[in-house]
Amino acid sequence: MSGPERAEATELSRDPSIPAPVGPDAPVLDVLATMRAMRRLKPDPVPDELIETIVRAATWAPSGSDAQHYSFIAVTDRDQVARLGALWREAETTYEGLAGHLVPDFEDPTHARMAETLRYQRDHFDETPAVIVACYGRSAPAGGGFGGLRDVARSLGFARLRKLVAGLFTAHNLNEASSIYPAVQNLLLAARAHGLGANVTIWHVFNNADWKAALGVPRDVGIYAVIPVGWPMGNFGPVRRRPVDEVLHWDRW
Ligand SMILES: Cc1cc2nc3c(=O)[nH]c(=O)nc-3n(C[C@H](O)[C@H](O)[C@H](O)COP(=O)(O)O)c2cc1C
Repeated sequence: MSGPERAEATELSRDPSIPAPVGPDAPVLDVLATMRAMRRLKPDPVPDELIETIVRAATWAPSGSDAQHYSFIAVTDRDQVARLGALWREAETTYEGLAGHLVPDFEDPTHARMAETLRYQRDHFDETPAVIVACYGRSAPAGGGFGGLRDVARSLGFARLRKLVAGLFTAHNLNEASSIYPAVQNLLLAARAHGLGANVTIWHVFNNADWKAALGVPRDVGIYAVIPVGWPMGNFGPVRRRPVDEVLHWDRW
């Protein structure tokens, strides 16, 4: 499996041989074009203020109905990181079991390097300076619950209500996911701008209940991403992605 064509992002404001800019004034498009998944992290601690800075940037993202039902758990306590490490290794092992048979194929050269860094992160997870867990959902109902359903039915009419109910689960999941992932992307970009390496992961879904229990996440709040953060061992460099003329359709597919 060789996968789709990839091209290096070239629209940088600088010569690609010059190290990618770092700092709060780094050009935003350069930050976007050089924000790769950074899985090899130094064990050196990340200051709490910097964690606050990147979580603040996360909160600048939009959310559906401006609900802002996001919460972030920043784990820096070594025992707690080690507890998450055990869950991480279990999830990674499940993923590897799947990836051996599904996409991506780790034998294919495009993904062989990724497999190598996944394994590095698995083996060194307990040294991760900070793990940020992005959650979405309300921990308590705002009131009303289903009490107002009759009123909703009356104001919407039967046909609209039927469509609403049919798509309710999809709509709920879509709303929560599309409200938290812009915040996650902001967090990754802010981390990258400040010279921190990070990568977004969702394989906690393989043992989600254990992650929720370890972190004390309320029943009606979902974990949407687990993001290890730290100072990268390697350098930031251009991402490799499908060329725009392959993915952009004008006026219709
Ligand atoms: C929705 C989503 C889920 C992801 N889940 C994981 C994951 O569970 N574990 C992991 O190591 N990386 C995960 N990644 C990171 C991707 O593997 C990474 O972004 C992709 O390989 C591109 O890497 P690059 O930016 O270094 O080119 C995820 C990324 C996204 C957007």
